[in-house]
Amino acid sequence: MSIKVLVVGSGGRESAIAWKISQSDSLAALYCLPGNPGTSTFASNIAAGALDFEAIAAAVEKYGIELVVVGPEAPLVEGLTDFLKSRFPSLMVVGPGKVGAMLEGSKEFAKDFMNRHSIPTAAYRSFTKETMAEAFAFMETLKPPYVLKADGLAAGKGVVILDDIAAARQELEQMFSGKFGEASSKVVIEQFLSGIEVSVFVLTDGRDYMVLPEAKDYKRIGEGDTGLNTGGMGAVSPVPFADKAFMSKVEERIIKPTIAGLQADGIDYKGFIFIGLMNCGGDPYVIEYNVRMGDPETESVMTRIDSDFLHHLAAAASGTLAGEAIKISPQAAVTVVMVSGGYPEHYKSLYPIHGLEQAGGRNVNVFHMGTKDSSEGVVSAGGRVLAVTANAPDMQRAAQKAYKAVAGIDFKDCYYRGDITKDLEKYL
Ligand code: AMP
Ligand code: GLY
Repeated sequence: MSIKVLVVGSGGRESAIAWKISQSDSLAALYCLPGNPGTSTFASNIAAGALDFEAIAAAVEKYGIELVVVGPEAPLVEGLTDFLKSRFPSLMVVGPGKVGAMLEGSKEFAKDFMNRHSIPTAAYRSFTKETMAEAFAFMETLKPPYVLKADGLAAGKGVVILDDIAAARQELEQMFSGKFGEASSKVVIEQFLSGIEVSVFVLTDGRDYMVLPEAKDYKRIGEGDTGLNTGGMGAVSPVPFADKAFMSKVEERIIKPTIAGLQADGIDYKGFIFIGLMNCGGDPYVIEYNVRMGDPETESVMTRIDSDFLHHLAAAASGTLAGEAIKISPQAAVTVVMVSGGYPEHYKSLYPIHGLEQAGGRNVNVFHMGTKDSSEGVVSAGGRVLAVTANAPDMQRAAQKAYKAVAGIDFKDCYYRGDITKDLEKYL
């Protein structure tokens, strides 16, 4: 097997996926669209946007691409996979079509799917402006805190959790008045689940599946899980509390019924399913489905895959996953995200990054998330800038190694959380 591959996207997730693919013996050529300065060291970057379907089709044609991996959710929700399959029927695409992508693109669709297939999740109802009075009445039946979710994609900001019912009512009114645009014209209100979160990743061809290493993400900007939500400030894999017993509950109660549900509903799904789970006293509940990998979880997860990942991707995309076996490294991976000061609110970019060359090395990977080439070398170009990932025999040593690498990198106003993995030490 010798495959020409295109990875669509420009962030840390795509950097890590492309990096892993670059190690495959089955690889003929690797392109990233648009990629970033980091991916240019092991792939050829193609300048175009991930939502520019025509440019993606042109690249497939020009470079004779045989397999496309779609990194972010937006092109999937917009129908990139269906578009490519209609243009190039034999092209292998990792990423679901428009209907499958609704598992992430519509919270109501996802909750109805879980209900229909008896997959454990928080109790919920969905409402529109017309049923606001019923929504208020439903809230009265719930205990605080109140969880309000904009139905559509809202750049990761569409979930609001409030302790006070008056504040929750006011938030709901704002959502219906267009706070998140069209995405919040419908709102799901659900029961609050208390527990600790874990991210589970599945690669499927719609019939068989492979469970990738699980990970834990650090969502808040501040140490001790305080402050605003972000895209993710760090990741750890494996997750000490996600032991064999817990993961087998996840597989039996959630993964198997999810795959069976896709089949029962006639949804052709070839790609990743990222299941955001709450561990509530040892029992898993689904918080959300995503139809892509997590970022920065992927940066940890990819470093723990010891088998030929490209081979697995091709099998998933061509419906032959049944014979595939993943080999997972027993080593721990820790990712620390370096961000621009001020993120996730206002921040400045285009600061030169010092120490990049020396920072990577044996068991240390510096994945680019938001960077750009300039006359001054590589500069910051986004809120989340770098995902520094280290591997070691155990979590604590991996964290030490990651932080040592982080200390060698610098750009103006750079910020990172110093407590990645600290909350997990009690489970070791
Ligand atoms: P989501 O965008 O669905 O990932 O939600 C963002 C975050 O809100 C999740 O990662 C959880 O931390 C939290 N969250 C969402 N739904 C619930 C729930 N039902 N109970 C408790 N926390 C939740
Ligand atoms: N790190 C969480 C996500 O990618 O949605």
